[in-house]
Amino acid sequence: MTDARVALVTGGARGIGREVCRALASEGMTVLLSARDGDRAAEAAAVLAGDGLDVRPLALDVTDPAGVAAAAAAVRDDPGRLDVLVNNAASFAPWDETPSAADLDGARELMEVNLFGAWRVTQALLPLLRESPSPRVVNVSSGAGTRADPISGLGAHGGAAVSYGVSKAALNALTTQMAAELAGTGVLVNAVCPGLTATSPGMEEMGARPVPEGAASVAWAATLPDDGPTGGLFRDGRIMPW
Ligand SMILES: NC(=O)c1ccc[n+]([C@@H]2O[C@H](COP(=O)([O-])OP(=O)(O)OC[C@H]3O[C@@H](n4cnc5c(N)ncnc54)[C@H](OP(=O)(O)O)[C@@H]3O)[C@@H](O)[C@H]2O)c1
Repeated sequence: MTDARVALVTGGARGIGREVCRALASEGMTVLLSARDGDRAAEAAAVLAGDGLDVRPLALDVTDPAGVAAAAAAVRDDPGRLDVLVNNAASFAPWDETPSAADLDGARELMEVNLFGAWRVTQALLPLLRESPSPRVVNVSSGAGTRADPISGLGAHGGAAVSYGVSKAALNALTTQMAAELAGTGVLVNAVCPGLTATSPGMEEMGARPVPEGAASVAWAATLPDDGPTGGLFRDGRIMPW
């Protein structure tokens, strides 16, 4: 078993997830970079390993119960410990998806990734996390799942992209409930918004910030001290009302 702290990041082959892998490995952690496509996980992990970081690939589709169980067993086998879980994987809703007309099959599929995916992976890995001296669970959420964000929050834009906002509000609620159950066990569970981050072309022109900045907001909650907060939603280390 490794002496280094071990982190697992879902949806780690691109965007914010990949930069979170880089940030945590740069702090000396062993990072399991997971992606639903094992080849893409291997490619992304190889790039970071090429920079001298201890980043290892893992195939993990958060919507596949058997695959999640198999991944949890594989992690218990090697590297044999888990200290940090970052539930980053997400699916996005079309901007023209309105509450009154949303295709509920599509909305259900999105919830399978954004809510149940994070929930499923946390359940599967919690036994191993509980064995860590300082376990952390980070649910990557969004201001879109809050009533307090006037620009992209619930109710903005005429209720557009409804299933995404609903999924992140539910993820915030799950974070509160999971943290309450685990209070006093040492497992700190927090939700984090990375802020509007330029993970696809054209986003910088919309005012989105560079990917490492969004990733730093997430990595903050993965590296909290033992007396750090639990059960909150944060952006850049500051509590966000939701
Ligand atoms: N970018 C922003 O402005 C912003 C703002 C607020 C919150 N966020 C949150 O930040 C997180 C990362 O966003 P991002 O902008 O980096 O998004 P992204 O570039 O679209 O990355 C999403 C990742 O999730 C993965 N994924 C999707 N479905 C999956 C599944 N079933 N199993 C495993 N992985 C799956 C994708 O894998 P594939 O490559 O296989 O599709 C991809 O790696 C998300 O939780 C998002 O909601 C982003």
